[in-house]
Amino acid sequence: MADKIGKVLFTQEDITKRAKELAKQIDEDFKGEEVILLGTLKGSIPWLVDIMKHTTIETKLDFISASSYGSSTTSSGVVKIRYDASINMYNENVIVVEDIIDTGNTLKYVVEKLKERGPKTIKICTMLNKEARRTTDIHADYVGFDVDDLFVIGYGLDFDQKFRGLPYISYLEEEDVEGL
Ligand code: PRP
Repeated sequence: MADKIGKVLFTQEDITKRAKELAKQIDEDFKGEEVILLGTLKGSIPWLVDIMKHTTIETKLDFISASSYGSSTTSSGVVKIRYDASINMYNENVIVVEDIIDTGNTLKYVVEKLKERGPKTIKICTMLNKEARRTTDIHADYVGFDVDDLFVIGYGLDFDQKFRGLPYISYLEEEDVEGL
């Protein structure tokens, strides 16, 4: 693993396997219905693609960008919508697809905004769940993996906008950050 960036937590194989399991669960939960997969930019894209590819129900796609992070490694707590979805969510099933839930601030704000649009259901599908950092009452319906309070990168997750393209999820420690 010496050629990898950071310490690997989940390989491509781990992620694909889990995405298939969750896609199957989504298929069962929404059998005969349509679902809007609403990806949160930018980090959710690789995970969203995996979920979308493996579901067999009819899915529609849109994106929203809301952020509570600056370029530092901790959340500022202030949420801003930078890009909004344009799809009509009235009476639709919406699954918000996230890369990671940390404090839950971002998602709480997004879900409250989405509820105003009158969807039939709103569910949350996150690749990673960092429960130890949660300060809100947000819970995901579909969780890829629970993770400890680590600085995770790869598979959509960034460090100063870098490493989103890594085909695995790893984490950085201080010694790793120095050379980056
Ligand atoms: C990350 C992630 C979540 C949020 C989680 O987004 O995608 O939206 O932070 O943190 P929270 O639970 O403490 O609110 P980020 O703002 O880093 O945007 P990005 O996906 O473009 O990297």
